[in-house]
Amino acid sequence: MMENKNKFENGRLLRILGIETSCDETAAAVVENGRHILSSEIASQIEIHARYGGVFPEVASRQHVRTIYTVIDDALSQAHLSLDNIDAIAVTRGPGLAGSLVVGMNVAKGLALARNIPLIGVNHLEGHIYSAWVKPDDAEGEKPDPQFPILALLVSGGHTELYLMKDHLQYERLGGTLDDAAGEAFDKVARLLGLSYPGGPSIQEAAMEGKPKAFQFPRAYLEGTWNFSFSGMKTAVLRVVRGIEKSGRSLPVADLAASFQAAVVDVLAGKTLLAAREFNPKVILVAGGVSANQALRQTFMDQTDYVVHIPPLSLCTDNGVMIATAGYFRFLNGQRDDLQIDVLPTWTLV
Ligand code: KG4
Ligand code: ZN
Repeated sequence: MMENKNKFENGRLLRILGIETSCDETAAAVVENGRHILSSEIASQIEIHARYGGVFPEVASRQHVRTIYTVIDDALSQAHLSLDNIDAIAVTRGPGLAGSLVVGMNVAKGLALARNIPLIGVNHLEGHIYSAWVKPDDAEGEKPDPQFPILALLVSGGHTELYLMKDHLQYERLGGTLDDAAGEAFDKVARLLGLSYPGGPSIQEAAMEGKPKAFQFPRAYLEGTWNFSFSGMKTAVLRVVRGIEKSGRSLPVADLAASFQAAVVDVLAGKTLLAAREFNPKVILVAGGVSANQALRQTFMDQTDYVVHIPPLSLCTDNGVMIATAGYFRFLNGQRDDLQIDVLPTWTLV
């Protein structure tokens, strides 16, 4: 296995500063040997964007400029380190909002140049996946690394993808969403229900008081493919909402939220477990913002056929730790990027 062969894994500690600015979180973290968090700082812009009902790209980019140096300084001082003790800088290169990515990339380049340390451009999706290698400092203790082959379900605001990984940094894309990403569907339905941004956590909270079987929303299983589709489900919610509004009754928000959440979870977990039966992985890995969803986590935890890795809540949504960790495995693989590299707003993993 790659990590056992590498000289860094046999003795020397390798500390990587991870920088993430792909969307609306300005984040930096220092991670040791890709697994141990020395610090993690996140300046969330949620409150700023909430009034627009979603991320306002221009505002996001300006806010990153305002906070990035403080976030990096805080990450270093929390780790009791200076840049002199950092072995490489990993930064999100894409996918994401161009104006936001550029802020992190330019700062990373500046620091790498000034300190003459390697720069590693990281794919944000790979970051989410590699959060499964991070060892959380909690009761779970020293969890073993996920074993290959891995079936990885990546569910975030911009992506819903199913990959088969036979080894580190190797992805076979089995399928993905044909329309909305799962997180995007949560965000759009939340808006329909008058719930606040980001929609995932709001729907989860509202759903706690609701009945998941109150409404039967359509589940698109797209049999014969490993693709997903959430637009039909979203339109069905819209139709019910319009009908109720027309009748003058008040919206049963909790029941609608619970029923929608149940439909999304059924499809995500159902298709992933079906793929697991087909590909027989050693581990199912679930990552990305939507993996914070309690109903989804519970559904995966309740099945007993597979070992499932889902990151702790703090690592599900965007953070610098996952970028440092993915950067570490890229570093071991020999990746060193030129200071001329540019951001890639639509970068796919495969
Ligand atoms: O990974 P992430 O932080 O950013 C992207 O890479 O997109 O994911 C953000 C997405 C948002 O759509 C948000 O509504 C969703 O993750 N999300 C959730 C939950 N927490 C965040 N969706 C469902 N349930 C949650 N608890
Ligand atoms: Zn993300």
